[in-house]
Amino acid sequence: MRNALAAFMLLLTPAIAAGAGGEAHLDKVDINVSDTASLQRGAKIFVNFCLSCHSASYMRYQRLADDLDIDEEIVKQDMMFAGDKIGDLMIATMPTADAKEWFGVAPPDLSLVARSRGPDYLYTYLRSFYLDDTTPSGWNNLVFPNVAMPHALYEWQGNQKPVFIVDEHGNKKFERFELVKTAQLTPEEYDTAMRDLTNFLVYLAEPAKLVRYEIGFWVMIFLLVMIALTYALKKEYWRDVH
Ligand code: HEC
Repeated sequence: MRNALAAFMLLLTPAIAAGAGGEAHLDKVDINVSDTASLQRGAKIFVNFCLSCHSASYMRYQRLADDLDIDEEIVKQDMMFAGDKIGDLMIATMPTADAKEWFGVAPPDLSLVARSRGPDYLYTYLRSFYLDDTTPSGWNNLVFPNVAMPHALYEWQGNQKPVFIVDEHGNKKFERFELVKTAQLTPEEYDTAMRDLTNFLVYLAEPAKLVRYEIGFWVMIFLLVMIALTYALKKEYWRDVH
């Protein structure tokens, strides 16, 4: 019985995920794709601030409405571009060729970015834009140096400048950000919004997770009942043997 229990516990051990990311320190983000309200808020931010440049070309508006429990009418009115149909894929408004000309690189499709980069990276990236007059866009990013993307949410976050400390070897080390222009949101509100957006990007990369969690719950209940039954059966058999 003890061995069986140990094997069972092993099954429960979550796989250790290897995260991507550069040298910059990444802040941890608490992701929960069962938090539908958070996913709804994240989807709204994505549609309003990201979908102009970035596509999510594996996702249909219809599925978004179904999975995230958003009324189809609301999706049609608030989240879709004029002319799009509810069965359409989420394609950016900006033609790729134009975007490439303006930014030098085409904005990547974001369907799978949460899987290639990991949630901590995205959460930190979205909070690490800073003003830099040496780049073409006037923006830079601590976790993606010389990024071609302008800060899409600067009005929410406010403009920030990094403060570096220089150690005795002359190496610059990032210490903190300093706000140089007031923001529409408080830092806490902005962090929460970026958690919601990251949560949405994680869902986007694997919408089947929602279904799997639900099935997983019933599988666990089934297994627990089976363990109890098997144990009772074993006791019953051994009563005759003794
Ligand atoms: C004005 C156009 C534009 C908008 C709006 C925009 N992006 Fe980008 N984004 C870009 C471009 C261009 C790149 C490519 C950057 C590069 O490769 O240097 C990019 C890159 C990225 C990357 C890739 C980073 C990496 O490490 O590979 C992520 C993630 C991303 N954007 C997320 C977002 C999110 C989330 C939003 C909405 C809040 C958003 N972007 C809004 C233009 C945009």
